[in-house]
Amino acid sequence: MRRSAGANQASLRAEAGGRSSGVSPRYREGVGFSLASWTVLEHTTPGNKPPQRPAAACHTSKTRVREQVATYYRWPMRSQPVDRPADLDAVRESYDRVADNYAHMVVTTGVGDIRKYPWLKASIDAFADTVSGLGPVLDVGCGPGTVTAYLAERGLDVSGVDLSPRMIENARRLHPQCRFSVGSATELDLGEASLGGVLGWWSLFNLPRDVLPQVLAVFARALKPGGHFITGTHVGDEDAVRTEAYGGVPVRWTTHQWQPEQFVDLIEQAGLRPVAELRLPANENVRPGLVVMAKRPG
Ligand SMILES: C[S@@+](CC[C@H](N)C(=O)[O-])C[C@H]1O[C@@H](n2cnc3c(N)ncnc32)[C@H](O)[C@@H]1O
Repeated sequence: MRRSAGANQASLRAEAGGRSSGVSPRYREGVGFSLASWTVLEHTTPGNKPPQRPAAACHTSKTRVREQVATYYRWPMRSQPVDRPADLDAVRESYDRVADNYAHMVVTTGVGDIRKYPWLKASIDAFADTVSGLGPVLDVGCGPGTVTAYLAERGLDVSGVDLSPRMIENARRLHPQCRFSVGSATELDLGEASLGGVLGWWSLFNLPRDVLPQVLAVFARALKPGGHFITGTHVGDEDAVRTEAYGGVPVRWTTHQWQPEQFVDLIEQAGLRPVAELRLPANENVRPGLVVMAKRPG
């Protein structure tokens, strides 16, 4: 079971409406949440960190790119092999099919753009403030690159990677100043302690339940001590099979929902220390969600 906040952890709870953000029975049952609430498990005020990089860090010289590649992609040595999900090809093809609609939706409606969701934007801003100056940041499952580009605008040295080549085509078209590559979260060769930050921003819920812990372990190992991981995911108990998405496009993927306690427990077991949780209630448009930020101790 998950540990409760220890005595040496500053525990600060901020929530809308003045209600407790503790785990309610309703929450545990996955029925949904009535309030969005941050539970900050540890103060993450940046300490004596190097100065922030200049803006537009996405745009780098060829030499710098080579240095970064050498730093955080290590060939041919693989850190730890991760089991290949049986449905990986089907998931890739499905996201390829929806990629244009998804990118169009983000650009034209703002759905999926953190700038339109104050709590999500706040969590990404907190992540950006925390990892600023710690080292390269990798946005895993970046889709059309909305968050990657947002972080680059904030001056982070960030790049994005996604399973779907078509998503990456859209990301490159929309954000030509940024670096993107095609790859699966299950097949990344990341150098140990090479990253200041990793994101799995609503992009890890398709990983089978037994594969997610392996991917989290790879992320934990790739983070520098003090580096941070942030993730958002769907809450519930189902393995929901999707057959169409984003405008009736036929797809074949499974959304593995997690209960917050289980999900945070997995992150801890991977060797990361959770520092904040944001619980998002269901409303008429969205299902309940969870954002967790965690750090590699040290
Ligand atoms: C709902 S979209 C979110 C995209 C982006 N993070 C955002 O917030 O707009 C999910 C993304 O995860 C990607 N994805 C799914 N499985 C993946 C995997 N195994 N490795 C890398 N990306 C994956 C999909 O291709 C898709 O772009």
